[in-house]
Amino acid sequence: MCVSRSVINHAIRSNMKHVDAHDEPLLNVNGVTLQYKTREHLVTATYRVSFQVFAGQRFILLGPSGCGKSTLLKGIAGFLKPVEGSMRLSGRVIDKPGPDRMMVFQEFDQLLPWKTVRQNVMFPMKASRRLDGAEAEARASAYINKVNLTKFSNSYPHTLSGGMKQRVAIARAMAMEPDILLMDEPFAALDALTRRKMQEELLHLWRDTKFTMIFVTHSIEEAIILGSRILVMSPHPGQVKAELNAGQFDHASQGGREFQALQQRIHTMLFDQRIEQETRVIHE
Ligand SMILES: Nc1ncnc2c1ncn2[C@@H]1O[C@H](COP(=O)(O)OP(=O)(O)OP(=O)(O)O)[C@@H](O)[C@H]1O
Ligand SMILES: [Mg+2]
Repeated sequence: MCVSRSVINHAIRSNMKHVDAHDEPLLNVNGVTLQYKTREHLVTATYRVSFQVFAGQRFILLGPSGCGKSTLLKGIAGFLKPVEGSMRLSGRVIDKPGPDRMMVFQEFDQLLPWKTVRQNVMFPMKASRRLDGAEAEARASAYINKVNLTKFSNSYPHTLSGGMKQRVAIARAMAMEPDILLMDEPFAALDALTRRKMQEELLHLWRDTKFTMIFVTHSIEEAIILGSRILVMSPHPGQVKAELNAGQFDHASQGGREFQALQQRIHTMLFDQRIEQETRVIHE
């Protein structure tokens, strides 16, 4: 089927978030190539990736294993410098890690085992923001409460379930009140029921504070439920295939026609070689 470029451009434009002239992106990723240099190999993890994240967005990086999602997060966090392109947060080039970008990882062992829940949440606040003890403690209590762990404030990580540990890690990151929360498959290792509960809690937290997050997943369903915007990436080396709106969906809309149509559309994008080529032409 031959689709004219103006039709394609219209489709892309109509799918874009309305941005008025004064609406500056919080994060601007522009043509970013990220590589790893090992002794034997040069691995290109992402190739000329561009996207913008606006304040309050729930921005999803979705793509197959090895497409460079974690690498992109590491770049945004300031652990890895692009070999090409630039990344700016509020207009400033990202060149090192900072408390304005907090990461939550997939692993359950990201807490300090010798510190209690409260001490874990307080630790980065005291270390990098130089809040005094009372202020850090008050903020820690507030965020521990937001993730429903007040009763476990004095518990040690080894006494908590996987889901509870992830909630502590989320509270710890949120208590820093970063400009942007970077979440690398934080629910991937949880059982289906707990995962769903955590997704609901995260959406609830978002409605409460409207924080900005970049959330990595390779679950299409999770991307549609949690995301307001989805960046679909190609297999290794990761390139942008498409950027889609998904703000209108949640768990309740999961069985609905629109939800399923979007799910199918993304599925086709991820797995159909022909669509891949078509999309690549659109983005050239
Ligand atoms: N430290 C490293 N040294 C060398 N190559 C690496 C390193 N970390 C990742 N890579 C390579 O970079 C590419 C992207 O990896 P990355 O971990 O970003 O993928 P991902 O999309 O997060 O995958 P997954 O969904 O499995 O977590 C892969 O080819 C991987 O082998
Ligand atoms: Mg990863």
